[in-house]
Amino acid sequence: MKENYKEILYDNHKLETNRLVLRKASKKDALDMLEYASDVETTKYLDWTGAKTIDEIIKGIIDFHWSNPGVWVIELKETQKCIGTIDIRLKPEHEKAEFGFVLNRNYWNSGYMTEVLSVILKLCFMELDLNRVESFHYVGNEGSGKVMQKCGMKFEGISEQGVKIKGIFRDVVRYGITKDYWCSFAKKK
Ligand SMILES: CC(C)(COP(=O)(O)OP(=O)(O)OC[C@H]1O[C@@H](n2cnc3c(N)ncnc32)[C@H](O)[C@@H]1OP(=O)(O)O)[C@@H](O)C(=O)NCCC(=O)NCCS
Repeated sequence: MKENYKEILYDNHKLETNRLVLRKASKKDALDMLEYASDVETTKYLDWTGAKTIDEIIKGIIDFHWSNPGVWVIELKETQKCIGTIDIRLKPEHEKAEFGFVLNRNYWNSGYMTEVLSVILKLCFMELDLNRVESFHYVGNEGSGKVMQKCGMKFEGISEQGVKIKGIFRDVVRYGITKDYWCSFAKKK
């Protein structure tokens, strides 16, 4: 893993895919962000409770988006609308990262998050030189696992009733990918 990982993340505060731009949040995104943050269907399987007001969103932009280097909002190039967020949390001692993502429900199942995660994995392995990236989803939220699979991540098991989220015990489905495996997966694409 590169020692100057903070600098690398800063240098990559803007990334691009075919249809999307990943960039730092601005207060101008607040209304767009409220659209997905206030939708209970969207936040159902998230540890995050979402937000109901613009003030909560602005607080989230300052405390989360601006205070952590590995957080990007997802902007649709065509309309410049902010339709989601992805973040990575580095664990330098293990040379790995975990990620989380959320997308406005009006844009689900169009391949957007697969496009986003692909570019984030490339950043993790090619620029940050991490050894491993991992994440999880809860049973019931299979679309999330599908995105991980489409990006080459491997299913690693289920922790039954591994967490209690919003009062419900959730089975945790774990996924991971090593740099070695990602390199061979990316070569085949
Ligand atoms: C999970 C999420 C980010 C996926 O984003 P997305 O842009 O819709 O993902 P993609 O379109 O790239 O891929 C979704 C895939 O899941 C599949 N899928 C959707 N619902 C599914 C389900 N219930 N079971 C199985 N597959 C499902 C889609 O068919 C698609 O696969 P395909 O391309 O082979 O058809 C989005 O649904 C979301 O924001 N959900 C709410 C927040 C959340 O749960 N975040 C993840 C927390 S772990």
